[in-house]
Amino acid sequence: MRSFIVICGICCWGIAMISSCGTAVTGETNATALVQPDSVSYINIDTTLIPNGPFGESVKYGRELMLHTARYIGPDGSAGKFLGNKMNCTNCHQDAGTKAFSFNLMSSHDNYPQYRAREGKVLTLAERVNNCVMRPHNGKPLPLDSKEMVAFLSYFKWISTFVPKDKPFKGAKNLHLTFPDIAANPENGQALYQTNCARCHGPNGEGQWNADKSTYVYPPLWGNAAYQPGSSMHRVIKQAEWLKNNMPYDKVTPGKPFLSDKEAMDIAAFVNNDKIHSRPNPKNFDYPHIAEKAIDYDHGPFADTFSMAQHKFGPYQPIIDYWKAKGLKPVY
Ligand code: HEC
Ligand code: HEC
Repeated sequence: MRSFIVICGICCWGIAMISSCGTAVTGETNATALVQPDSVSYINIDTTLIPNGPFGESVKYGRELMLHTARYIGPDGSAGKFLGNKMNCTNCHQDAGTKAFSFNLMSSHDNYPQYRAREGKVLTLAERVNNCVMRPHNGKPLPLDSKEMVAFLSYFKWISTFVPKDKPFKGAKNLHLTFPDIAANPENGQALYQTNCARCHGPNGEGQWNADKSTYVYPPLWGNAAYQPGSSMHRVIKQAEWLKNNMPYDKVTPGKPFLSDKEAMDIAAFVNNDKIHSRPNPKNFDYPHIAEKAIDYDHGPFADTFSMAQHKFGPYQPIIDYWKAKGLKPVY
C-alpha cells in the first residue's frame, strides 16, 4: 500500500496518473502508465516531484549518496567508512545515474534480480550496488539493511518510475563502437590523453582535489586512489563506449561525441594499461564460467586461444567471429 501512495504522489501528468492509480490498488506499481506517451527519447527526471514522507526522505538521501558518496561513506565518511577512495558514484553514472549514455541506472530497479556472469549467480540490485562499492570504489560492502543501501534502492526505484516499460529509451545503454581492424594503440592514446584529458585529470591521471580534499573536482583515472582492475571501467571497450559520449567533459553533449571510436579506444587502452599505471589490487577476478567472460576482460583463463593482449587491446572482431562460429555468445 505504501508504494501505491508513493507512486501516485509523484506523478502529476494528468489522465495517465488517474488510470495508473486505479490499477495500482492491487498493490502493483504499474509505472508504465506514469510515463508521458511522447517522452521515450531522452528522459528527464524532475526532483521536485520526490514525494514527502519517509519514502521520499530515503529517495532524497539516495540521490545525495549518488552525488556526494565520499562525504557519507568514503574513507572519512560521516555515515561509515566503506569506500576505499574519494570518488563519487556520479563520476561514472553522471547526473546521479540519469544522464543518457552514461551507465544510466534508470532501468536498474526493473532489471534485478538478474543472473550475473561475473559471479555466476543471480544477484539482487543491492548486491550489484555493493559490486561498485567494492570494485570502482575499492571498498567493503554496505550492510544490505543499512540506511544507505535502502536509500540507494529507494532512489533507483523512484527514478525507474520515469522510464517507459514497453520500449527502450534513448541513452539507456551507452553508445556503441565500430571496431577498427587493428588493436587499440596505447602510445597514440597517451598523446591524445595529453591533448584532451590532462588539463583536468592531470598529466599523471591523478585528478584534482576539491578545496578541503574531501573529494575531487576531477576524479583520478589511475593510481591507488582510482578504480581497481576488476571494474568494468578497466575494460577497453566499456570505457571507450563511455568516453565517446562523456569526455572531454566540456566538449560533449548526449549523443554528440567528440572523440572518434578509434581515438576513444586508444585513450582507454592508455588509461587502462597496467604496464605503466598502477591501481589497487583486486580482491578476486570472478567469472566462474569462462565461456561467459566479457571478451575485453583481460584476466585469463580464456575460452579461446587469443592472447591476453588481444583480449585487452583487440582487434576484437576476430574474437567475436570465433565465438559466434563456436555457437557461443560474445559479451562486450
Ligand atoms: C569508475 C566508474 C564507476 C563508479 C565510480 C561507480 N560505478 Fe556503478 N558501474 C560502473 C560500470 C562500468 C558499470 C557496468 C555498466 C555496464 O556494464 O553497462 C556499473 C554498474 C552499476 C550498476 C548496475 C546497473 C545495471 O542496471 O545493471 C549499479 C546499480 C551501479 N553501478 C551502482 C553504482 C553505485 C551506487 C555507485 C557508487 C557507490 C557506483 N555504481 C559507482 C562504473 C562505476
Ligand atoms: C574539462 C575537464 C575534463 C576533461 C577535459 C576530461 N574530463 Fe574526464 N571527467 C571530468 C569530470 C568533471 C568527471 C566527473 C563527472 C561527474 O562527476 O559528473 C570526469 C570523469 C571521468 C571518468 C570517470 C571517473 C574516473 O575517474 O574514473 C573517466 C574515466 C574520465 N573522466 C576520463 C577522461 C578522459 C579519458 C578524458 C580525455 C578524453 C577526459 N576525461 C577529459 C572532467 C574532465
